[in-house]
Amino acid sequence: MKVIHEREKCIGCGSCAAVCPKFWEMAEDGKARLLNSEFRPEKNGDVLEVEKVGCCQEAAQVCPVQCIYIEK
Ligand code: F3S
Repeated sequence: MKVIHEREKCIGCGSCAAVCPKFWEMAEDGKARLLNSEFRPEKNGDVLEVEKVGCCQEAAQVCPVQCIYIEK
C-alpha cells in the first residue's frame, strides 16, 4: 500500500503529526513531512510504501485539506 502526501496542498495544521507521530512530523517550513517518503512526480506528492497503513488512516481522515491519501 502507498501513503501519499500532496505536500503542495498542506496548510500545516499539524493534525496528522498529532494523531500519527510514528509516520508524520512537522518540518521547518511549517508543513508536515511523511517520514522516509520520497517525492514521486507522477503522484504529485511524497510517497511511502507500507505493508500496514496504521495510523496514517487516521491522519488522512483528520487532514482538513485532504492532502493525505491511501492507495491500495
Ligand atoms: Fe498538512 Fe493535513 Fe497534516 S494540512 S499538517 S497534511 S493534517
